[in-house]
Amino acid sequence: MAINKAVSIDTAFQAMMKGLQARSRSWETEQAGSEEKVDYECSECKDRGVVIYRIHKDTELRLRKEHKPLDSLSLDEMVLEDDYLAGKVCTPDKAREWKTTYSKQCECVKQKKIAKLMAASGITEKFEQLLFGNFKLDGKPQMIKDAYECAVEYFKDFEKIKGERANSIALLGQPGSGKTHLLTAIMNNLIKKKSTHCLYFPYVEGMSDLKNDFDQLETKLNAMRKADVLFIDDLFKPVDGKPRATEWQVEQIQSVVNYRYLNHKPLLISSELTTDDLLDVDEALGSRIYQMCKYYTVIIQGNRMELNHRLGDWD
Ligand SMILES: Nc1ncnc2c1ncn2[C@@H]1O[C@H](COP(=O)(O)OP(=O)(O)OP(=O)(O)O)[C@@H](O)[C@H]1O
Ligand SMILES: [Mg+2]
Ligand SMILES: [Zn+2]
Repeated sequence: MAINKAVSIDTAFQAMMKGLQARSRSWETEQAGSEEKVDYECSECKDRGVVIYRIHKDTELRLRKEHKPLDSLSLDEMVLEDDYLAGKVCTPDKAREWKTTYSKQCECVKQKKIAKLMAASGITEKFEQLLFGNFKLDGKPQMIKDAYECAVEYFKDFEKIKGERANSIALLGQPGSGKTHLLTAIMNNLIKKKSTHCLYFPYVEGMSDLKNDFDQLETKLNAMRKADVLFIDDLFKPVDGKPRATEWQVEQIQSVVNYRYLNHKPLLISSELTTDDLLDVDEALGSRIYQMCKYYTVIIQGNRMELNHRLGDWD
């Protein structure tokens, strides 16, 4: 009696699998024949954001014995649910051996988030190429190596320090020495590896943009206040040797930096000015920047022929 029951469940199960396969085949034929073929952005998850897998009962048994979680499985130990339903995995009589399903977020969800963060960050395609890996160190003065080390350390420490007051980095001094390159490398890594919401603010263009779009001033300043990480590039960039810092400009930067200082939100700062010069522009602002960046500050000064990458023969 018991045997009969098992057989009949098996038979029913096989019938169900055959039905599913037939349905899947007819659906595929329909799709192939239809004029409007469905174009998925992601063929892996068919834009569902999750991928469902099936696992063989032996694999599951092994996992249980080894006390390992399902997500420790490698891809070749799982089969796609779609393939399973389409009968590509096994014959119907073996279908019961693949009973456990497991769903995983598709890689495309993360990739879409990164693309969104990249677009929102204000980083251009050219800037996406500025990485630690293509920053040359051979033949560079120690000061440049220090700046590189400081930037790499900062990225490594980021998770640990991001909520503290001294959670920021400043690369100061010599034009063309790689300040923007290194800070952009940090930003690219934060976006791609840690899905961090970053905002790039090139001081000169950014300031004139703020001034020309007065209606949007508060909205834009708020975005600068609230971003997880704000990169102010070329702060107070001098004209004719004098810092570009009108009262209005200092006031706007002050209101952003002050908010970030109070709320422990990291800044990445590049400037031709030294810490002293920044204090001379405005002591309240300069001293906040000093405090925020005190563990990660490098002032690059010396022989410009050695320090300015643009003046060297590197290629
Ligand atoms: N060590 C390096 N290896 C490879 N490229 C570098 C290096 N240093 C600088 N560069 C390149 O040289 C150019 C100038 O560097 P960068 O813009 O980062 O300098 P900067 O210090 O920000 O200068 P500025 O004050 O003029 O803005 C960039 O194209 C950058 O990628
Ligand atoms: Mg620069
Ligand atoms: Zn996907």
